[in-house]
Amino acid sequence: MFQGKKILLAITGSIAAYKSILLVRLLIKAGAEVRVIMTPSAKDFVTPLTLSTLSKHPVIAELFTEDAWSNHVMLGRWADVMLIAPLSCNTLAKMATGQCDNLLLATYLSATCPVVVAPAMDEDMWLHPTTRENLAKLRSFGNKVIPVDKGELASGLHGDGRMAEPEAIMQYLQDHLFQSRDLDGQRALVTAGPTYEPLDPVRFIGNHSSGKMGIAIAEELARRGAQVQLVLGPSSYDTQAKGIQIQRVQTAEEMYQACVAYWPSATLAVMSAAVADYSPASKSQEKIKKSEDTFTLELSKTKDILASLGERKHNGQVLVGFALENRNEKEYAQSKLRKKNADMIVLNSLNDEGAGFGFDTNKVTIFEKDGNEIGFERKPKKEVARDIVDRIVKMLYA
Ligand code: CTP
Repeated sequence: MFQGKKILLAITGSIAAYKSILLVRLLIKAGAEVRVIMTPSAKDFVTPLTLSTLSKHPVIAELFTEDAWSNHVMLGRWADVMLIAPLSCNTLAKMATGQCDNLLLATYLSATCPVVVAPAMDEDMWLHPTTRENLAKLRSFGNKVIPVDKGELASGLHGDGRMAEPEAIMQYLQDHLFQSRDLDGQRALVTAGPTYEPLDPVRFIGNHSSGKMGIAIAEELARRGAQVQLVLGPSSYDTQAKGIQIQRVQTAEEMYQACVAYWPSATLAVMSAAVADYSPASKSQEKIKKSEDTFTLELSKTKDILASLGERKHNGQVLVGFALENRNEKEYAQSKLRKKNADMIVLNSLNDEGAGFGFDTNKVTIFEKDGNEIGFERKPKKEVARDIVDRIVKMLYA
């Protein structure tokens, strides 16, 4: 997402400037080109040497040196975004009133690229009416303001005003500026959640799937421009994201019917639901009463939705399945890929900590039909969704 992006990082005098060091590292690691400018007082908090070493470019703080003038106009034209992080109360006030007494402000006033600010200040300053007014002014100029965090402040007090963490700033840039629309025009089918197979009017056979992973995938697909049909089992979660149409189902059979109806018009499908493999052979219309000491339930196999879509797959459609295993993970994942005619299987191992049902994180390995095997670190499910969708996009346009 950041590959080749030109980021002009502008640092002002604030304790939070130490976080800018990590921010530069993360941006460079993500493939961005970073130039750093700073106000003279920012040098009291971080050294230009550290920042120039990390960004691989000289850091500029002065409008003039003895024999040269810094071209602030070109800096603002070079950048894809000017990111002011941390933004101090003082620089905020100067930006709001058009003052121009240092290089950072001159660059801001002449920037033709989008400007994003990450404020950092003590809570009382943050809540002061002047600050509110100045921020409102910046927003009215079209500048974007990254929300501050709550937590321990430089004063030792606790409250609002901490600069957002570098990872959150990266996420903000990605969501608000660099969101790629590489799935514009695509139609995606996603299943998520458990299924409930009724025994009688009050009981069912279900599982612990939360649906969070599938919902995160649906949201990522929609964010990137796809029109998403989310076939969602009885999960307590859902989504309000734009571009997603939710079809609620209860049973494996209902999920199957919804999927086979939509699949011919879809260009890709991700089957992340934990579908029951067996369902009661008959459903009692009356509540089953307790009688004998043992009770035998006859179950019959449900239709395998992924395999059914695999049979009906036509040219160019990309079909993704999941595998949840606790032994022989790799062999089972690869055999599901073949047997179900999928293009990709996302393996969750039940042996990995923080992975699988209910967690907000997941750790997956992706197996692709051409033999690729890609392992990922444990990450928040939103980031896992991004990794999976990145691979889908690659395959879709290969
Ligand atoms: N799946 C499906 N329909 C079913 C069962 C599973 O579409 N009736 C899909 C799941 O959504 C998942 C994949 O198949 O994408 C693998 O599911 P999993 O339960 O791990 O595998 P099974 O094929 O059911 O095999 P087993 O339970 O023996 O591991």
